[in-house]
This record gives sequence, structure tokens and C-alpha cells, in this order.
Amino acid sequence: MPDKKHLRGMCDMSTPFRIGIAGLGTVGAGVVRIIRKNAELLEKRAGRPIEIVAVAAKDRKRDRGVDLSGFDWVEKAGDMATRKDIDAVIEVIGGSEGVAADLVRASLENGKHVVTANKALLAHHGYELAQLADEKGVCLMYEAAVAGGVPIIKALREGLAANEIKSIYGILNGTCNYILTTMRQTGRNFDDVLKEAQAAGYAEADPAFDIDGIDAAHKLCILAAIGFGVKPDFDALNIEGIRHINSTDIAYATEFGYRIKLLGIARRENGKILQVMEPCLVPIESPMGIIDDVYNAVYVEGDFVETPLLTGKGAGQGPTASSVVADIIDLARGHRLPAFGIPARDLKDAVWADPGETMNSYYLRLMVIDKAGVIADVSAILRDKNISIEGLVQRGRAPGQPVPVIITTHETRHADMMEACDLIEKLDCCVEKPRVMCIEEL
Ligand SMILES: NC(=O)c1ccc[n+]([C@@H]2O[C@H](COP(=O)([O-])OP(=O)(O)OC[C@H]3O[C@@H](n4cnc5c(N)ncnc54)[C@H](OP(=O)(O)O)[C@@H]3O)[C@@H](O)[C@H]2O)c1
Repeated sequence: MPDKKHLRGMCDMSTPFRIGIAGLGTVGAGVVRIIRKNAELLEKRAGRPIEIVAVAAKDRKRDRGVDLSGFDWVEKAGDMATRKDIDAVIEVIGGSEGVAADLVRASLENGKHVVTANKALLAHHGYELAQLADEKGVCLMYEAAVAGGVPIIKALREGLAANEIKSIYGILNGTCNYILTTMRQTGRNFDDVLKEAQAAGYAEADPAFDIDGIDAAHKLCILAAIGFGVKPDFDALNIEGIRHINSTDIAYATEFGYRIKLLGIARRENGKILQVMEPCLVPIESPMGIIDDVYNAVYVEGDFVETPLLTGKGAGQGPTASSVVADIIDLARGHRLPAFGIPARDLKDAVWADPGETMNSYYLRLMVIDKAGVIADVSAILRDKNISIEGLVQRGRAPGQPVPVIITTHETRHADMMEACDLIEKLDCCVEKPRVMCIEEL
């Protein structure tokens, strides 16, 4: 028997579907633009007109480049939650706490559907909000929250619903992928390319959320919740960003046949679930290796399906607003689903795998003084930690000077690799913290 509360959404298709849009920035203004431009098409697809009843933002006077005439301006976004003439609240303000979170909670509480693009909110409070939505018999929709214009939520929640999901891999932050791609193509360093990305509008003035992997981790946490039927648990994620990647690593990775990507990985491992966000090496011609620039991609392995790859622009007004409007059409049609694909009461507390126990091949870059015995010392540490070397390259000859040594390993226990790096760092010949990254042979 389907959850009866989800049937409450069966709607009167003869009346317009009425929405209030809270937030008129990049995404909110894009939503208004699409609904105005494609009104007729949307009506056919939804089976009824979609009507914007009210809008809210901070600054009423700001020109947003879209026509807001005919919409009621709401001074306090929170008031949308109680308006009788609104069927769904579209929250595109942002932030895991504060106005956006209060509005979403209050809207669900008052029996309104919610569409949001807010990954931070879902990663931190997704379970509680999904419970509330179920309790009130309404829907919490968030296609735009993960990978912008790429319909991965629909794919995972519906298109792949027949499968037990084994793993999910994602390039989930366009800014990081742009920076890594540009570093590779130009040989320039991280700081330089980051500045350029900021000037081009790809990176925020405060880029920490993007380059430290937090934004991508929010998205991974949502995908893992749907894929594995678990409560989203952002705190259980191991996160490493891309600040420390340099052009030397990128050049060596290329030489070894790899690309460096900030990769989100969620997969089943011995009855547990591994959830990590970290820069990894992936083969150049692999599904993830070919994704460049601001593009996002998600690759899912199910037990009865090959490995579909979805890719496209992960941010920007058009792609993100397109996903928000797709959710609105689904709601207007009467399509109802629990937030994470199954009723919130059935979401489990995941048993998370210890990343230290995972087995992987590794890329290791050392900066060591070029002198006799150094490679022997490094090899001895790796041998003692049971780490088998797959390849080793020392470039250049500069007696008495630091030179890079690149080592790739066979499958190794993560904790052993980290302990070996600590010991190598303590060698007199080692002049820099060793750089280590997983190799994912996708
Ligand atoms: N931009 C993207 O490409 C993208 C992609 C995927 C997901 N998202 C998500 O979409 C959401 C919105 O992002 P955005 O890029 O559109 O942000 P934005 O351009 O900064 O817009 C935020 C909007 O919220 C309004 N706002 C801020 N505080 C408010 C308050 N107290 N009451 C009412 N309105 C308030 C702002 O009003 P004013 O305009 O008056 O300042 C602005 O219109 C975020 O959750 C973000 O993570 C964005």
C-alpha cells in the first residue's frame, strides 16, 4: 500500500498551480524568466497553468532583469508559509540555517510543498525535513540542489529505482573542475587560476565552500541518502579539497595516464557505506576523466543496470532554474514522492566504513634531496608497511637539491599509506609534506 499521505497531493487539475518564490537572485530570477517565457509549454506539460502568486527578496528596488509585474511582493519571505493562495513555496535564498531553513520548515508545517535548490540545508537537515514533509503529506523537491541542470535526483530516485545501488561517483563542483582543467591546460598554479575563476564569475569572492570540497560534499551526502536509503549525514563525510594540488601533480598525473578530479565517492564496502570527497586520479579516457571545465558528472552503478553517466552544467542561472521548474511541473502534475525516495521513517542510520580500512592504489609525490640512498630509505618504509610499488619515476638530476619522486602503488590499506607518508616526511632528505592521492580505476 502506498503511503496514504502522499496521495493527499492528488490535485484538482482544473485550477492553476500557485507558487511563491522566495529569493530572486541568480536562481530565483531564472525561475521567473522560464515561467514567463515558456508558460504555454509548461501548462501543457503540467496539465494546468503554473502561476506565480508572490515573490520575495531582500531589496525591493534591485533590478533583476525580469518582469515582476503582477506578482505580490512579500516583505517577509516567511509569510509565504501561511498564505492560503500558495500551493508550493520555492526557496531559492540559500543557507543551511536562518531565513531559508525557517521558511522551508514553516511551509512544510503549513502543508505546502517545497521546491528548493539548497544543498546545504538538505545535507544538514534533510532527514528532519523529509520527516516533516511525510507527516504533513507534502513533498520536498530539490532537483536543482545537486549538479544544477543535470537531472540526477530524478534518475536516482525514479529511473534507477529498480536497482540496489552499489556505488555513486560524482564530479559535483564546477568551480573545482574548472580550476583543475585550466591548471592542466595552461600549466599555471592554483592561486593564479582561482583568481581568474573569480574574475570570470565561476568562483565566489569567498571560494572556501567550493575549493575545500564542502559544496560538493553537501551534494554527495544527498545522493548517498537516496542511493542507499540512509539518513543524510554530512558529519560522517571525509572531505578534502583541492587547495594543495599543484601543477607538478597535474603534469605527472597526465604522464601516468590520469586526470586529477575532485571526486565524490559513495559506495558499499563489506556491508558498510564509504562516503568521501577527495581529489583522485582517474584514467584519462574514463567516464570521469573526460569531464572538463565547469561540467559536473555523476556515474551510478546498480545491480541490474550498466553504469549510466549523467553530465552537464552544474550551476548557472539557466541550468539550475531549469531543474527548479522541472520540480514545479512534477508537483503541478500531481506527481508525489518522498524526499529521499522512501518514506523518511524507513531511512536507516548508515554504518559508515572507516576510510582507513579501504584498499586503494595510490599516487605519491615526494620532494627529496637528490643523493645516494634516498630511494632505498623510502622503499624500506613502504616495504615495512606492506606497500607494493607499481611504478617509480625520478625526474631531473640535481645533486644536493630537491627533486620530485613519483611513486604509484598497488592496492594498499589507506591507513598504512598514511603511516608510511608520516614516516617518509620525517626522513632528513624529505623537504616537503608528501602528497598522496587515491587512484580510482573507474
Ligand atoms: N547559483 C547557482 O548556480 C546555483 C546552483 C545550484 C544551487 N544553487 C542554490 O540556489 C540557492 C540560491 O542561490 P543563488 O545563486 O540564486 O543566490 P543569490 O543570487 O545570492 O540569491 C539569493 C536571493 O535570496 C534573497 N535573500 C537573501 N536574504 C533574504 C531574506 N532574508 N529574505 C528574502 N530574500 C532574501 C536575495 O535578495 P536580494 O536579491 O534582494 O539580495 C537574493 O535574491 C542557494 O541555496 C544555492 O546554493 C545555486
